[in-house]
Amino acid sequence: MQTLPNRLETPESDDVFDLRDIPAHDKWTGQSGRGQSWTVYCGSSLSVLQKMPDTRIHCVVTSPPYFWLRDYGVEGQIGLEERVDEYIDAITDIMNEVRRVLRSDGVAFFNVGDTFYSGKGQSQGKDGKSKKRRFGLRAVDKSGGLGIGLQRKSLIGIPWRLATRFVEAGWALRSAIIWHRVNRLPEHVRDRPIRSYEFVFLLAKARKYYFNKQSLLDKTIEEDMWTIPAQPRKVGGLDTAPFPDELVKRCLDAGCPKNGSVLDPFVGSGTTVRVANAMDRSGIGIGLNREFCEHAAKSLQANAKCF
Ligand SMILES: C[S@@+](CC[C@H](N)C(=O)[O-])C[C@H]1O[C@@H](n2cnc3c(N)ncnc32)[C@H](O)[C@@H]1O
Repeated sequence: MQTLPNRLETPESDDVFDLRDIPAHDKWTGQSGRGQSWTVYCGSSLSVLQKMPDTRIHCVVTSPPYFWLRDYGVEGQIGLEERVDEYIDAITDIMNEVRRVLRSDGVAFFNVGDTFYSGKGQSQGKDGKSKKRRFGLRAVDKSGGLGIGLQRKSLIGIPWRLATRFVEAGWALRSAIIWHRVNRLPEHVRDRPIRSYEFVFLLAKARKYYFNKQSLLDKTIEEDMWTIPAQPRKVGGLDTAPFPDELVKRCLDAGCPKNGSVLDPFVGSGTTVRVANAMDRSGIGIGLNREFCEHAAKSLQANAKCF
């Protein structure tokens, strides 16, 4: 098995900010072949962010755990709350910290999908093939309606519930980009259209911010509708629900200057940090699941040989 790079129990400084302020978490750090730093912290996003200094990050590209889509099998995970407002609160708390660590000219790209409410019953769908498979989850609760009086089978409206809270908390919602997933997830339904898109919210901290509009004109037909195939769900044998490299690339081309610093508070397999390094940006990721963090660190180390 490959040795992981520079796992530091005693943090030292790097070129993004002083890591001595963040002593309580395991982390891996290294440099891309082109001299850009990368760091992966293992811990709950909120607690790691709370230890980061203000206004250092140029750009955030992230996708949180979706409501009741997967069980990542780790204590403290977000996504399996019994009430919608608990989920919205947990993500909003993290995005408040994200806003604090973002520079005043920084932006965040926030990709999120929706969930249908299944009503009372079992949260885990039957799956004869694998007990581990995490795809049969259903949003259920004991009281009914997920605390907001939903009818069974209703789409919950998670993206807009989140966006509304973000705006109330001080973000400026500058765009609701549609990510048209060409090879969408399989759905076997007869009484509604199959879903083929998700949102990527563009959030700004202040009225004026860095934005390279030309990159959109070069790359897209519709500026706010990005047709990008979804990445295969499994990366290195792990089901981290990665988003595609191309999605991150478009965000960084538009929202992060060269040599800028990029953060992903839900780093998963490390897509954001890896793509940031490949595009001459430094990257910081936070993940709760140790296995995923180790995988991300390994792939970043391997990547360092390419870039
Ligand atoms: C949708 S996935 C992110 C996938 C990532 N964009 C990629 O390309 O691999 C969400 C991730 O958030 C992690 N997660 C769940 N709760 C968390 C928490 N409280 N703090 C940090 N990460 C958390 C999950 O383990 C999962 O890896």
